[in-house]
Amino acid sequence: MNIIVTGGAGFIGSNFIFYMLKKHPQYRIICLDKLTYAGNLSTLSSVMDNPQFRFVKLDICDRNAVYDLFEEENPDIIVNFAAESHVDRSIEEPEIFLNTNIIGTAVLMDACRKYGIQRYHQVSTDEVYGDLPLDRPDLFFTEETPIHTSSPYSSSKASADLLVLAYYRTYGLPVSISRCSNNYGPYQFPEKLIPLIIANCLNDKSLPVYGEGLNVRDWLYVDDHCKAIDLIIHKGRIGEVYNVGGHNEMKNIDIVKIMCEALGKSENLITYVADRKGHDMRYAIDPTKIHDELGWLPETKFEDGIQKTIQWYLDNRQWWETIISGEYQNYYESMYGDR
Ligand code: NAD
Ligand code: DAU
Repeated sequence: MNIIVTGGAGFIGSNFIFYMLKKHPQYRIICLDKLTYAGNLSTLSSVMDNPQFRFVKLDICDRNAVYDLFEEENPDIIVNFAAESHVDRSIEEPEIFLNTNIIGTAVLMDACRKYGIQRYHQVSTDEVYGDLPLDRPDLFFTEETPIHTSSPYSSSKASADLLVLAYYRTYGLPVSISRCSNNYGPYQFPEKLIPLIIANCLNDKSLPVYGEGLNVRDWLYVDDHCKAIDLIIHKGRIGEVYNVGGHNEMKNIDIVKIMCEALGKSENLITYVADRKGHDMRYAIDPTKIHDELGWLPETKFEDGIQKTIQWYLDNRQWWETIISGEYQNYYESMYGDR
């Protein structure tokens, strides 16, 4: 089996590559990544010498280069993680999100049509459903929940999802889509809430909490997401959407306080800053479909996952310190400077 994993130098894609090389050592994994600010080749250093692995630096919007790679590798399965993934950045500069997340998806699927594949899998997000009110804890996102997006990021991901379903209906392309809740774990770029709080705690910097910190996210350890995608590409039904999430809803402020305690830092570091524009209130996944059809259940409890994650950032300071010492400084200043 030849699998092309796009965006494999990023957070979830790299964890998926590690998961697949371990679980299916006979598979050949080709990682295709443009290495944007969010992609980091050093993340993949442990697998670079694995004969079953190949890295190719490539933009998914570059049609000719994508076609050449398909011709050369003759892949069976494509798993598309490549995306601009940070909501705050999409609010500042939407265009790149439209290019990568929508056009890039179309280019990959056109290559699939041209060269023939067994499965195209689109890694999507629960954000395509918009948000749920805080005072209705009985409501969850199911696969039937209407698409109702809030940010340029979620709108670009929803557009891509619609395109994927259109390629299924119009061209009969064998597709599947997973819509997952918030992931956490090793190798997450420090612009995202959990690694940002860990890095700032370790540097005794203020901990920026948007608004009142009451927004709720449904956190899932990254390996559980990888396991879900592995199940879907092998056993999931073609043309179907699967929600992935583990009923682990938490308020942002509670997450930040848990991390202060775990790292022995004072809650006085917490600083309430101006809210994100259009900030979604609550995400909550109903995972009944993937549980009933594929037997998926999350295996990592939040208490264990967050400990493992914190330990990873403690043990791998060089990885994230290199990132936050470069261009990231400018990003941080422009995003948080006068907030
Ligand atoms: P990330 O930002 O950490 O990584 C994205 C990767 O894509 C990077 O390696 C980057 O270099 C690469 N990339 C960007 N543009 C590219 C292009 N034009 N061509 C080739 N490669 C390109 O993102 P992540 O958090 O790992 O998310 C991966 C996917 O999962 C995304 O599609 C995202 O929408 C989705 N998702 C993320 C979460 C989450 O909590 N992080 C939850 C659900 C779904
Ligand atoms: O739900 C899945 C989505 O989760 C993915 O599709 C996105 O790619 C991923 O980035 C993530 O989106 P969020 O916007 O939920 O994640 P983020 O880590 O940016 O923020 C989590 C929450 O924390 C959100 O309510 C905003 C808040 N926040 C975030 C940052 C960076 C803060 O309060 N302070 C911060 O500094």
